[in-house]
Amino acid sequence: MTNPRRHLVRTVAVCTLALPALLMAGCHTSAPTTGGGGSTGGGTASGGGGTPPPLTKKAHYVVGFSQVVSNNPWRIAETNSMKAEAAKRGDKLIFTDATDSEAKQIADVTSMVAQHVDLIFLAPKSEKPLAQAVLKAKAANIPVILLDRRVDAAMAKPGADYVTFIGSDFVDQGKRAGQWLVKATGGKAKIIELEGTAGSSPAIDRKKGFDDVVTGQPGMQIIASQPADFARDKGRQVTETLLQAHPDVTVVYAHNDEMALGAISALEAAGKKPGKDVLVVSIDGERDGLQAIADGKLNYDVQSSPFFGPVAFGALDSYAGGQKVPAGIVVHDKAYDAANARQEIASSY
Ligand code: AHR
Repeated sequence: MTNPRRHLVRTVAVCTLALPALLMAGCHTSAPTTGGGGSTGGGTASGGGGTPPPLTKKAHYVVGFSQVVSNNPWRIAETNSMKAEAAKRGDKLIFTDATDSEAKQIADVTSMVAQHVDLIFLAPKSEKPLAQAVLKAKAANIPVILLDRRVDAAMAKPGADYVTFIGSDFVDQGKRAGQWLVKATGGKAKIIELEGTAGSSPAIDRKKGFDDVVTGQPGMQIIASQPADFARDKGRQVTETLLQAHPDVTVVYAHNDEMALGAISALEAAGKKPGKDVLVVSIDGERDGLQAIADGKLNYDVQSSPFFGPVAFGALDSYAGGQKVPAGIVVHDKAYDAANARQEIASSY
């Protein structure tokens, strides 16, 4: 099956010398032009086209970083990376945590606008409601750089309504998880899928990439697919419930490590051996995930790097310096399995 978003994401160049931080981070640039395939949504606003607001070059900046939530190691690692880079440069970072609330995140961005920050880094909770926050900042002449998650491109466009999107290719992450599973199972599996936050770009795209691979395999079936909000507790609860209806499950695919770790607890509580009776595949590469691989309970984990600080501020510098910043900067991710997880634990988060 084809993937409309991937057709519209066109790689235009490997990072250039004008973006040294991006090179260090192993990124390439691309031109993403679509939003997620999310269904209906909160916003009615739409982008006005044109170009993002300008940023005057300064010795030091006051920037906002609007984080979605701080309830898992991935989010904390992302926040630490942003704070560390700002401190290293002597820039002031105004940090907000939206506590997983779209309304609070919109209010957080509104407050940054009122404080006249130079630029806003936004890690949006979901695609549609947070597109409105991007447009509010644009209307106030404050440039925005999206980190990690996208907003709906029908409502706000990179290179027009905001400067750029920096993050992983989530469709590809889901596809890689699916392809590993096809090989590991010989194309035979009964799968429970734990989805991330509804309406968020990683949940939409990781599902799309994975489901497209599985749909092409007659012996593989997704017997249940349900949101568990990227959270460990919810991952455990949802798996517990689904196991009652589907005791014949052979695979759990979770859109992040936290939900996979919750599923592992639920499988053990049900008397099953995760990693053996039921294969577990996930995305992120956090320390507990790598440890679970070393313990034989998680089988495969596609990395999703949270270390955005150097890349994000590198893009800010390029933009302020009048260089052309590509509409998309894609971070490349590796993957972990029993062959490499143990040696990566010490350097993980
Ligand atoms: O947007 C990235 C996802 O959000 C990470 O995979 C997940 O752990 C986080 O909460």
